[in-house]
Amino acid sequence: MSWIRTHNCGELTKNDKGSEVILNGWVATRRDLGGLIFIDLRDRYGITQIVFDEQNKKLHEMAELLRSEYVIGVKGTVISRSKETINPDMPTGEIEVEVTDMQVYSKAETPPFEIKDDIPTNEEVRLRYRYLDLRRTEIQKNMLLRSDVAHTIRNFYHTRKFAEVETPVLMRSTPEGARDYLVPSRVNPGRFFALPQSPQTYKQILMVSGMDRYFQIVKCFRDEDLRADRQPEFTQVDVEMSFVDEEVIYSVHEELMAEIWKKHLGKEIKTPFSRLTYKEAIETYGSDKPDLRFDVKINDLSDVVSNSGFKIFNTTVEKGGRVLSITVPGQGTMGRGALDRLTDKAISQAGAGGMIFMRLDSGEITCSVGKFLDEETMKKMADTSGATDGDLVLILAGPAPDVYKQMGSLRLIVGDDFNLVDHSRTEFLWVTEFPLVEWSKEDLRYYALHHPFTAPKPEHLDMLEEKPDEVNARAYDLVLNGNEIGGGSIRIHDHDVQRRMFELLGIGEQEANEKFGFLLNAFKYGAPPHGGVALGLDRIIMLMAGAKSLRDVIAFPKNQKAQSLMDNCPDTVDEKQLKELHISLRKSAVN
Ligand code: AMO
Repeated sequence: MSWIRTHNCGELTKNDKGSEVILNGWVATRRDLGGLIFIDLRDRYGITQIVFDEQNKKLHEMAELLRSEYVIGVKGTVISRSKETINPDMPTGEIEVEVTDMQVYSKAETPPFEIKDDIPTNEEVRLRYRYLDLRRTEIQKNMLLRSDVAHTIRNFYHTRKFAEVETPVLMRSTPEGARDYLVPSRVNPGRFFALPQSPQTYKQILMVSGMDRYFQIVKCFRDEDLRADRQPEFTQVDVEMSFVDEEVIYSVHEELMAEIWKKHLGKEIKTPFSRLTYKEAIETYGSDKPDLRFDVKINDLSDVVSNSGFKIFNTTVEKGGRVLSITVPGQGTMGRGALDRLTDKAISQAGAGGMIFMRLDSGEITCSVGKFLDEETMKKMADTSGATDGDLVLILAGPAPDVYKQMGSLRLIVGDDFNLVDHSRTEFLWVTEFPLVEWSKEDLRYYALHHPFTAPKPEHLDMLEEKPDEVNARAYDLVLNGNEIGGGSIRIHDHDVQRRMFELLGIGEQEANEKFGFLLNAFKYGAPPHGGVALGLDRIIMLMAGAKSLRDVIAFPKNQKAQSLMDNCPDTVDEKQLKELHISLRKSAVN
């Protein structure tokens, strides 16, 4: 039977000296100094040193048998540590508990890895034994940060009259762009639910229903290729508001972010956040989620080099492509070997066809294609790049928009390689005015860049059918230090505009009615103008915690193959279960 603790393992201090206490916890470490056995007893709240004296022979013998991760309860007296053993880095570092009684609640096998930070253990093993991994301070801290931030978020919205509404997990598929996770219906043979990629349609219907302000901290599911910042199952802070414009959404969420950063990281965040249109972001940083923690910007050299002696420049510009540069401060003396390695990265990681460079060193400009260029052109190129003596200029030429994206990647590589990123900065940014649609060369059709419910800019509405590529959307992303942490839009609330949008996406009237009839119908009965946003909670916590992967801020994450190694799923199911669901597997799926 458990002794009920008087204190947790993180709270006893010298003020408790002389108190009789009961502690419960896990054996973190054991040091046997012969006459005395010291144990670091660990729970979620911290570590307290407990000590067994050989004068109490029976207890001392019991303590000799204790091993790492045994779960024990102890009764004892709080005493001061001897001067040499005081640990000023621990809240409990000035005291220890002299044990007068102990019971072992459960023994533990030797764990497959040590429960401490900075372990070299491979992640697959950590995920298989996630319950042990979750005992590590680093992961526990992340989980507690997540819990606290979620609390702040809930309070924030509640105090601003947002209603927290749960939307279904079994729903029809929403077109958010990824593949759906499907759930077969036993009682409706051959029919499937989809797990929500997001509650997009429900939150819009809630606006039609007059809910006015909605939020939900909600699980979303997307069957897409995984990366460090993507999980198949992730959490959104999902928000929708009626009778608003972009400015209201921006200011509410700037306030939210400032409150979270202040409360949980003690950091003042400057509001309003910076803003860039999609076009500006691409042309200046080569990315729709630029990292503004370093100031390197893209320069367009096309006009300067369009009539130069270097053929590649001329033909690129003639064909409508661009010649772009970035300036790397202070790297003008870079050696040939380092430049070759950088060129390799530009090709293999940034996808560039090749890289040209210019070094400004001791008043001279040298260029990797210098023999084709006259001095004046090189000088103009350096000036347009904002380069001064001592700088290195990197140049890419190619068709737009690809060359912008390549330069954006090269910019990040350079930022990393030359430590240009100021990690003490916190750079929030709204990226606005995304294109409404993008043409898919593979499928020969338009796709909505955000989703099909996003409103076109009113002044572009006339171009919807004739020049869809030129239509901008009332869509925005929230970016933090080069990561997309949120996205949203003002929605279409007009039945006819929504129908035109579906048509543009190749969704005919019949299909639109079948798939979204409920939404189109709802719009016929009084739909308020509305808009919203969804924040990626996992990504926000990852960035706050300084973690490298979403897996470090999710209690039970999936691995790169979308598997949960701890409970081994997805897994096969009984033939009987399949039969009940009217499902038979193709041969290729049975191994
Ligand atoms: P969007 O698809 O941009 O918008 O998603 C919103 C935010 O969710 C996070 N996110 C992810 N996080 C982890 N793993 C993933 N696989 C993943 N996918 C997305 C990102 C992203 O910015 N319904 C719209 C929102 C709206 O219009 O209101 C939506 O889902 O941080």
